[in-house]
Parts: sequence; structure tokens; C-alpha cells
Amino acid sequence: MREGEGEGEGEGEGEGQVSGVGEERKIAVLKARGVTVGFGETLILENLDLDVYRSEILGFVGGSGTGKSVLMRTILGLVEKRAGKIEVFGDDLDTATADERAAIERRWGVLFQQGALFSSLNVRQNIQVPMREHMNMSQRLMDEMALLKLEMVGLPRDSAEKAPSELSGGMIKRASLARALALDPDLVFLDEPTSGLDPIGAAAFDDLIERLRDALGLTVYMVTHDLDSLHSICDRIAVLGERRVLVTGTFDEMMQVDQPWVKSYFRGERALRRVEQDEV
Ligand SMILES: Nc1ncnc2c1ncn2[C@@H]1O[C@H](COP(=O)(O)OP(=O)(O)OP(=O)(O)O)[C@@H](O)[C@H]1O
Ligand SMILES: [Mg+2]
Repeated sequence: MREGEGEGEGEGEGEGQVSGVGEERKIAVLKARGVTVGFGETLILENLDLDVYRSEILGFVGGSGTGKSVLMRTILGLVEKRAGKIEVFGDDLDTATADERAAIERRWGVLFQQGALFSSLNVRQNIQVPMREHMNMSQRLMDEMALLKLEMVGLPRDSAEKAPSELSGGMIKRASLARALALDPDLVFLDEPTSGLDPIGAAAFDDLIERLRDALGLTVYMVTHDLDSLHSICDRIAVLGERRVLVTGTFDEMMQVDQPWVKSYFRGERALRRVEQDEV
């Protein structure tokens, strides 16, 4: 299941690309080809290919410092690439006009790994940042929307007026997710959304992501180290290594891969303990 093999090579059909001819026609809402990114002399990503299909939860894994956040930031246009092409919703991000670009940005939401919330704004104001940036809405409507999003992620109404410093780690993750969902996006990028949460909090967060995907048809691009998340909610996993996407497939398919990092990650001691727990 190497990236690009047998999938994602179909003809463009309207939005994104359709692959496969069977019953299951997958539409790639995100398509990266030949992406190369470096800082100074150091190449972080080289000739990387990746597809993300509509309404899937894609788990993106790789060792620390391999470039997972850099790739996410490159897709978002916050880091410049040296080569390659990135299409989102069928539009090439390099050739999109400013209006097209703004339309694409309205359709995605982001939860960053670092500095998830603006510390100088309360939760309500944080959730309203994308609304202010992209929509022309009255304050009253934005306030109603912010409360709706809080409810969606399971936070109490009174958290709206709290400062990020008054929230627990799990509440910050949820508030950040509420902000990522502010514009009812079709695609969300989540960078380590469950890191720092206790296992129960992480499982609750996973359930929430899965419910939102099922209810809204969201496509979820989730960078994670969490084997439980990878196993329980990810439809597909992409592994970053050697500066590119080494392999993609389901969790079960990952268990068959012989590449050393993939093997030690998915069949290492921690992973096997998890599988044993499952079997009890
Ligand atoms: N703006 C930058 N300038 C220079 N180097 C950078 C910059 N941003 C990231 N890097 C480097 O790129 C590499 C990849 O960083 P990145 O944050 O993408 O790792 P990661 O895979 O997300 O790791 P982690 O799992 O720890 O979050 C690291 O060596 C990092 O130091
Ligand atoms: Mg990172």
C-alpha cells in the first residue's frame, strides 16, 4: 500500500480526484505531490506524496521531529515549500486566486500543536477569531454560534467567558476544537489533539471526533502519537519517515509492514500490550 499505488490516480472529476472503479469511489479532498520543504541546508520533506479522502479520519504518525507539523503548516501555507503541488478541494493552492484561497480557508479548521488558543482572548473570543476573519457576522450571531460550538464539543456555557489560563488541558483541547469548527469546516487539521490528556480524556476526545465525522461528514487529518486513537478511530494511517510518506493503510495493514520504524511502533512492546488488552 505504498502511497500512490493503485489509489488516487483517477481522472479529476469536479471537486478533488476520484480514484478506484469499484463501489467505493474515494474522493481526495487533499492531494500532495512531490512536496519538498527545507530550512537552510536541511531538507525536512522530500518528494512527499499524500492523499486524504473525503470523510475519513486519517492518522498521521512519525517519529518526533520528522516533520509532521511542518507538513501541516506547509499545507496551510504557513511554511514555504521548495517543490511540489498541494491541492485542496480540487484547487491547486499555488495557482488559486486570493478569492479562491479565502474560500478554501473558510472550509478548513485547524487545531495547532503549540499555542492552541490566544491567551489574551477568552474562549468565546477565541472561537470567534475565524468568524471575524472570514465572515461578516453580527456580534449577536457570533455569540450564538460560539455557544453552539461549545455545546458541540461538550464544554459548559460558562466556559465562554473564561481565559485559557483558567481551563484544564482537556478543556483547552476542546475549546481549540470548537475554534477549529467555528466555520463548519469540511476538513479539519488536528496536530496532536489528545497529547497531554489522561487516557479517559483522550478516549472521550476520540469519541467526539468520530461523532463529529459521522454527523457532519468531516474529513479529519490528525497528527497523533496515540496508538489508541490510531486503532480506535482512524480509518487509515500514513507514516512519515525518510522525509516522505513511507506507507499508508489501515491499522491492521500497519501490523504487517516490515519497515523497522513501523514495525517497532505498531508491533513494539507498547503496541502489543494494547492489542493484548483488546483481546481480554
Ligand atoms: N521554522 C523552522 N525553522 C527551522 N527549522 C524548523 C522550523 N520548523 C521546524 N523545523 C525543524 O523541522 C523538523 C521537523 O519539525 P516538526 O515540528 O515538523 O516535527 P514533528 O514531526 O511535528 O515532531 P513532534 O512529534 O515532536 O511534534 C525539526 O527538526 C524542526 O527543528
Ligand atoms: Mg509536531
